Amino acid sequence: MEPSRFLTALAQTLSTMALYQPGHPARERVIDRSLQLLRGMLSLDKYPEFSFLGDEVVYGKTSLRDLRDWDWSKRFVALGVQRLEFDPDVTRDDYVEFLEEMSTRLNAPGAAIDTAEARQMTKRKSIRYGAVGIKSETEEARKVLEKEILTATINFQLSEEIDAIKYMHEEVLKNGGLPLLEAEAVVRSLSVAMHGESEMMLPLLMMKEFDQYTTTHCLNVSVLTMALAEHLGLNPRDVRTFGVAGLLHDLGKVKIPMEILNKPGKLTDDERAVMQAHTTEGAKLIITSDRELDMAAAVAYEHHIMLNGGGYPKRHYQRDVHKASTLVHVCDVYDALRTNRPYRAAWEADKVLSYIEEKAGSEFEPQISGKFVEMMRALEGRVSTVQYPEPEPAPA
Ligand SMILES: [Fe+2]
Ligand SMILES: [Fe+2]
Repeated sequence: MEPSRFLTALAQTLSTMALYQPGHPARERVIDRSLQLLRGMLSLDKYPEFSFLGDEVVYGKTSLRDLRDWDWSKRFVALGVQRLEFDPDVTRDDYVEFLEEMSTRLNAPGAAIDTAEARQMTKRKSIRYGAVGIKSETEEARKVLEKEILTATINFQLSEEIDAIKYMHEEVLKNGGLPLLEAEAVVRSLSVAMHGESEMMLPLLMMKEFDQYTTTHCLNVSVLTMALAEHLGLNPRDVRTFGVAGLLHDLGKVKIPMEILNKPGKLTDDERAVMQAHTTEGAKLIITSDRELDMAAAVAYEHHIMLNGGGYPKRHYQRDVHKASTLVHVCDVYDALRTNRPYRAAWEADKVLSYIEEKAGSEFEPQISGKFVEMMRALEGRVSTVQYPEPEPAPA
């Protein structure tokens, strides 16, 4: 799990570096985040080695299942990186130098890459890369550690994902623009977390404070939507697109004041109008940020529309909502009812599933909600509840 998370973050770092000048906070931030993941990985495996073989990424001797068909695997090969190795003492300077070299290669497509030269250049560094065949003297060390790695318990905390979502929401409020790369990185990372060693599991976040609801909820809806999309047999790319839509479905809520969002009692008519506008607001925010996110915008707009036309926003004529909206709708209701709110306590999972069954055909698209209930019952025991991480202590 750690190796995939690191590679995903590495790819995100390289994408971000193409957008921002050196010294830009967004650039420094992604560098630090991926370096942190690299160090996390090094704490479990001192001498990690990756091979990029077109469609496949091999870590040590294991093929990384969740990175099969990963675009970046082919991209690394095209950059002359078929092999990538790290030593335990990677410094930030070495890491930045490596990133800059990769970045230069990325920005000069077609430039001939002399892998022999690359090998020489990086010989004494803590990061080595080049054509397949570079061999460090770490094979022995790896063997010793192999057993340890296999039995290491990986504690999944979702803290980076939470930070990324918070950052995303702040950016939307500040600049009105959505950092799409961030959303895609979160979804990829959640997808990695869901595919454990042998079986699917659902990491669902549990909040402690009511003001953590928006972050927790969009993360959970994204996880549930991806699981359902996968259960319905969608291909990995579509699964992730649906995951992004799930992640962004309530984006419009960033504009709603906390007093309304977390009000314990009944909302007044005016407050309800503000609350319900999160659908249209969200759709606007998404579509003005990125035209390619038209499906996520549709989902933001439609996720409270019921099969029988009820819900909101009201439509002037009856027409079907996007398929992704029907998935997000059921996942949205599930997570909302499973969570403590200021005006009611969380429901038990069974009660929520019975409710969803009862509303199949009126509120929910019955085929989709039926599959959802089936999936959740099958996954029983494989839903891991992740506690919302403690906030960092404020500097004195
Ligand atoms: Fe919503
Ligand atoms: Fe929601």
